[in-house]
Amino acid sequence: MARRKKFYEGKAKILYEGPEPGTLVQYFKDEATAGNGQKKEVFEGKGVLNNRLSEFFMQGLNQIGVPTHFIRRLNMREQLIRQVEMIPLEVIVRNFAAGSMAQRLGLDEGAQLPRPIVEFCYKDDRLGDPLVPEEYILAFGWASQQDLDDIVALALRVNDFLSGVFHGVGIKLVDFKIEVGRIWDGEYPTLVVADEISPDSCRLWDIETGRKLDKDVFRKDLGSLTEAYTEVARRLGVLPSNVTHRPKPTLIN
Ligand code: TMP
Repeated sequence: MARRKKFYEGKAKILYEGPEPGTLVQYFKDEATAGNGQKKEVFEGKGVLNNRLSEFFMQGLNQIGVPTHFIRRLNMREQLIRQVEMIPLEVIVRNFAAGSMAQRLGLDEGAQLPRPIVEFCYKDDRLGDPLVPEEYILAFGWASQQDLDDIVALALRVNDFLSGVFHGVGIKLVDFKIEVGRIWDGEYPTLVVADEISPDSCRLWDIETGRKLDKDVFRKDLGSLTEAYTEVARRLGVLPSNVTHRPKPTLIN
């Protein structure tokens, strides 16, 4: 493969300079991290699954007029994306109480929220991505009031789309995280969904059994992460043919 210039490396992905100005290549790694990088493990095939799943969701969003950075998938682990100006926030949408919200407010895991709730974390690994009020975001200039209004509208559209898609395959979308970037058209900015949408950044529970099908499987040592992600991909019909996880053959005496 021709040498190419690394633009950025994160915990689960690497960004390389793209073939044309204004584009990047997003490479999905097999590493999973939790607890702000304290827990680390490699799951063979995770990157391939997340590349496919993120393609599936971003393409679906593009098709219903929700702009994303996604252009096209290049190969098993890479996709071509638009280079955007990242807003340094993690935008979390919650439909049911779980994770840090259930802990913070003493809510039962799985309790339905009165309506979808959007919250913001400041993206800084050294600080553990702290939850921040809008007042901080505006005062420190991380985003404007107009940006925040647009981000909430965007996040709720993504929530409606993802909730429907997952519901159709028997999965409850408990919560998820997106990241948002700015693309400039002359002097006019457009906000687009960036980064990835995959079981790494969602809480997904089987509607019938409550089985967890997301990164909590790794965070809480609940079994095979790849098996859970494969199940999500299988249900959505986006399983790449060479990442099937068949049971190992057993010897018959
Ligand atoms: P939380 O309950 O731990 O705050 O997480 C809420 C949702 O956001 C959950 O689906 C996991 C996702 N998330 C990420 O993808 N990355 C992060 O850094 C954080 C804090 C949450």
